[in-house]
Amino acid sequence: MNDALLTATQIDVATANQHSTILVGEGLGEHLAPLLDRHKVGQKRFVVSSPVIWRHQGERIQRAIPVEPILLPDGERFKTLASVSRIYDALIKGGADRGSAIVAVGGGVIGDTAGFAAASFLRGITLVHVPTTLLAQVDSSIGGKVGVNHPLGKNLIGAFHQPVLVAADPLCLATLPRREFRSGLYEVVKYGVIASRSLFDLLVRDTKAVLARTPSVLVPAIVESCRIKADVVSKDEREGGLRRILNFGHTIGHALEAITNYRRFRHGEAIAHGMLGAADLAAARGALSRDDQAALAGLIAKLGPLPVVNDLSIDEAMAAVRRDKKVVHGTLHYVLATGIGTTETVSDVTENELRGTLSRLGLRT
Ligand SMILES: NC(=O)c1ccc[n+]([C@@H]2O[C@H](COP(=O)([O-])OP(=O)(O)OC[C@H]3O[C@@H](n4cnc5c(N)ncnc54)[C@H](O)[C@@H]3O)[C@@H](O)[C@H]2O)c1
Ligand SMILES: [Zn+2]
Repeated sequence: MNDALLTATQIDVATANQHSTILVGEGLGEHLAPLLDRHKVGQKRFVVSSPVIWRHQGERIQRAIPVEPILLPDGERFKTLASVSRIYDALIKGGADRGSAIVAVGGGVIGDTAGFAAASFLRGITLVHVPTTLLAQVDSSIGGKVGVNHPLGKNLIGAFHQPVLVAADPLCLATLPRREFRSGLYEVVKYGVIASRSLFDLLVRDTKAVLARTPSVLVPAIVESCRIKADVVSKDEREGGLRRILNFGHTIGHALEAITNYRRFRHGEAIAHGMLGAADLAAARGALSRDDQAALAGLIAKLGPLPVVNDLSIDEAMAAVRRDKKVVHGTLHYVLATGIGTTETVSDVTENELRGTLSRLGLRT
């Protein structure tokens, strides 16, 4: 066995129906062929990616899986049924059958789209994720949620389909634009806040090295993040309760994304504002100490500037929160941090409290 495979860290996700293996290791991209063989992925392999990602990563991947990739246009607005249909076309023309596999090489957009094609083609074929953004490595490739947007709303069409294998190669991140990288980092911060003081402390202590993508700090941060998500998903695949903690920062974050038509913020940036909001709300209730609130705000500030929110309206944000899926039967389930590394889900957050928080975040009345 070669070095990259020997040194990779393995994390298992065991849900009721399926088992997935996550591997994190530098150089995995070049060794996909033996990896896929080891995980009994059939020989008919269809690679799905985008022209941008392929330009950066294609050569490495193609050496391992020598097939013509199915390239879809990149970007959130192409996360559609039309793109899924293009994948079906290529699968049918290429003679795909039940034993075939889709290998998604890309960020969350490609992973979600190709994943939905894998979930639905012939009622489900094998899926492998090769995530190429930090967000995809620590978040979207894990947990089996796949799907696409509808013109009337984001992520409205989807399924649960666990990948047999996630091969996360931190070397892929070298070509990622800085803003995309930082956007993924905010989700890493989230994992620290919800479940791991040591991850949080690593980010505070080694901020510079993390931002410089230094493997000796970045790889452990990715591994710890994957562990936390894998652990939550293993216990609660379908978001019954525990999985909600992954939504820390997402109530306000999603609202900010929605009222700016998904144009102003990268997802993680909106979540960074959302985490500041969730910490403010918890601190105002006395559930989180002011020190911990300040530590989170300090780390987020250290990671760099965020797009402004001070021209956005509290009323519009409140309306977006009400429309969000997290309002179940009229009550708002809210994930509050109670410390760095611990959370609590409450369902008695009032509109006034949330308005107060939005106001302190800087939104206008
Ligand atoms: N399924 C889930 O559980 C889940 C969880 C979180 C987010 N998501 C979804 O993920 C999507 C966001 O994913 P994302 O943040 O990865 O964005 P993305 O997929 O849009 O990728 C961001 C950009 O980076 C480029 N890129 C990707 N890899 C690169 C590389 N290695 N080098 C250079 N450029 C590269 C892409 O071309 C794209 O322009 C959203 O659609 C969101 O809904 C899904
Ligand atoms: Zn998120």
